[in-house]
Amino acid sequence: MVDYSVHGQVAVFEVNNPPVNAFSHKVRVGLDRSIDKAIRDTNVKAIVICGKGRTFPAGADIREFDQPHKEPWLTGVFEKLEKTTKPVVAAIHGTCLGGGLECALFCHYRIAQKTARVGFPEVQIGILPGAAGTQRLPRLTGLRVAMDMITSGRHILAPEALKYGIIDEMFTGDVINAGIKFAKSVMNKPLEDRCLKNKTVKDADQADQIADEFMSLVKRKYKGFEAPIDCVKAVKASATLPYREGLKAEALYMQKLVLSGQSAAQRYAFFSERAVSRWKIPGGNFQTAKPLPIKSTAVIGAGTMGTGIAVCLLNAGYQVYLLEQNQKFLENGVKTIRGIIEGSVRLGKTPMAVAQKAATLLKPTMKYEDLADVDLVIEAVYENLSLKREIFSKLDKLCKPTTLLCSNTSSLDINRIGTATKRGDKVAGMHFFAPAYYMRLLENIHSTETSPTTVATIMDVGRKIGKVSVLVKSCQGFLANRMRGPFSVEAYFLLEEGSTPQEVDSVMENLGMPMGPFKTGDLSGLDIGYKIQTELAKSKGVELTADSKFLMGERISTLTRTMYDKGRLGRKTGKGWYRYEKPGGKLASPDEEVMELIKDHCMKAGIQRRNISTQEILERLVYSCINEGFKILEEGVAATPEDIDISWIYGFSWPKYLGGPMYYANRIGLDKIYKRICYYHENFPYSSHWIPSRLLQKLSENKVPMNQWCSGTDSKL
Ligand code: COA
Repeated sequence: MVDYSVHGQVAVFEVNNPPVNAFSHKVRVGLDRSIDKAIRDTNVKAIVICGKGRTFPAGADIREFDQPHKEPWLTGVFEKLEKTTKPVVAAIHGTCLGGGLECALFCHYRIAQKTARVGFPEVQIGILPGAAGTQRLPRLTGLRVAMDMITSGRHILAPEALKYGIIDEMFTGDVINAGIKFAKSVMNKPLEDRCLKNKTVKDADQADQIADEFMSLVKRKYKGFEAPIDCVKAVKASATLPYREGLKAEALYMQKLVLSGQSAAQRYAFFSERAVSRWKIPGGNFQTAKPLPIKSTAVIGAGTMGTGIAVCLLNAGYQVYLLEQNQKFLENGVKTIRGIIEGSVRLGKTPMAVAQKAATLLKPTMKYEDLADVDLVIEAVYENLSLKREIFSKLDKLCKPTTLLCSNTSSLDINRIGTATKRGDKVAGMHFFAPAYYMRLLENIHSTETSPTTVATIMDVGRKIGKVSVLVKSCQGFLANRMRGPFSVEAYFLLEEGSTPQEVDSVMENLGMPMGPFKTGDLSGLDIGYKIQTELAKSKGVELTADSKFLMGERISTLTRTMYDKGRLGRKTGKGWYRYEKPGGKLASPDEEVMELIKDHCMKAGIQRRNISTQEILERLVYSCINEGFKILEEGVAATPEDIDISWIYGFSWPKYLGGPMYYANRIGLDKIYKRICYYHENFPYSSHWIPSRLLQKLSENKVPMNQWCSGTDSKL
């Protein structure tokens, strides 16, 4: 796990634990032995630590967090390293993160390849850098930089690390050679001054002020998360306590965090995010299927979704033909794309060079013929099956045989789109979430015809444009929107039965969602919900009125129609479920007029209002979705609960510290959830989303652990 070699008078420890050289127990043992060996060897005058393969150690082994801790401890090994009388040089390449950076901070010198990145990402898994990171980094950089890095978890590139004094020198070329060369240059120099524990924090006199500043920042920016708060407290301790006392404070915070429910959920989310890339469909999987090379792409439709998707592709370096039906729409689309990219450059999120290249890669057009040679088309016109089928049929005829044809549909069956072509194997869904250039979820959808190669390619494109891609099987609404369906419907029913928009919203916001359903509705526009409902009814041959209560035997609420009729379309009209300071305003205030409208609606519809508890609001919004989630799993639309949870985290901003709705269900207990779903089913027999999932019932009765829930489980029970 640690390869030991001696080069002249320099011992080299190469951490060898692929893929990221994490400090597992075996690595700690290997490092400890290597240190002893180098100390004993009188010929050795200096030591270099580096990582074999792609990276310097990228942290402690997160998988070991759930196991009993085994000696030696990370800090103990690192202290031994610092105590040696031979200079120790960390030669960094790749990603030097978490425990890896802590190791480097115990070394006497740090050098890094120009492209290397360093950082303390622990906060993202709900903990802090607990092997002296919170005490050592401020001794190098001062409190402000350390608090920023530790509370945000951001990685910084070597040039920035050099500026803050985190590294002493940058190098190019081979890591071991650079390490040995540097080690030779510092042999026999005094080490006392190179030990960080002996240093003081330079801006310690401003500790209160800086800590207060960061405390209010993290409470606002990372609302609900516990770890950033303890990170601030621990880093402050580096300035207010002697080194050893600071370490004790850090250990106490760490102990609390590592055992917390939040950290367990965030660690689950970390591994789930990686697990969703391991897809499988009949005929192939992520290991057997190879992605096709994609260079040029096309986006059809320059509306909100089309332009957002084009930005993602352009930023990743793909050529994009943007197709619209008339000059005006096309010009508007190009303007929108430029605006998004320029805004991102201003915010420092997109480098100028990327923006300049993107401008050259964008090819606006009104001619379908221009798309003949592209490798991938993403259609993003409005949700209408016959229009999409028409477009796909046209594309099938004019695009080269290898072109993949994808739809950004949010709900329409990909099988029915695919049958409009003679290349069903090359047709798939790529469902982006608005705003497409910002939201990280990409829901990739396969039909019964889609080939493993097509899936491998769209999953690969998703990764290259920085999305977290989840693969699902085609069905009405797919995974995300189908599962969220009951959430919106129940929110309206709660209003009808007695809640206020602000009561419902605050329950979800207290759970950790950035916005409740009614504030979200005001943001997207209430005309959308109204139109969807009206279209759906029309497609079933039904004309809805303001007091319709059922559609095809299913309970519905026509509250959005009431709002629509009153011109309350949300933020854009300054009035929706809330009142805003002006049309387009952001400040939501409760509005008595809305309550009058709701009460009037209920009176006309003959609905008795009552007091509804916050627990009932929570259960009806969340448990109804969980029930749908189990049906999605049962039908094989999603393969695993991880697919579902990641879709909610990155598609609907579900708080990572609750690990996703399926993880949340597991924490509460499936038997409890199942009982409440049965209770609501009994009380609301006209809402099919309360029909209990068979899989949920079986899993709860058989007490099946979460790591065994997956599609197909129920047939084995
Ligand atoms: N402990 C255990 N496993 C880890 C790990 C860690 N600290 N860091 C990464 N891995 C695993 C991943 O789960 C993944 O496993 P899989 O292939 O079985 O899914 C594999 O290593 C590769 O990681 P991945 O994230 O897919 O590779 P990448 O090249 O995209 O990113 C890193 C590499 C290091 C930037 C990224 O893995 C990362 O941020 N790791 C966490 C770092 C961290 O939090 N360190 C502090 C821990 S206390």
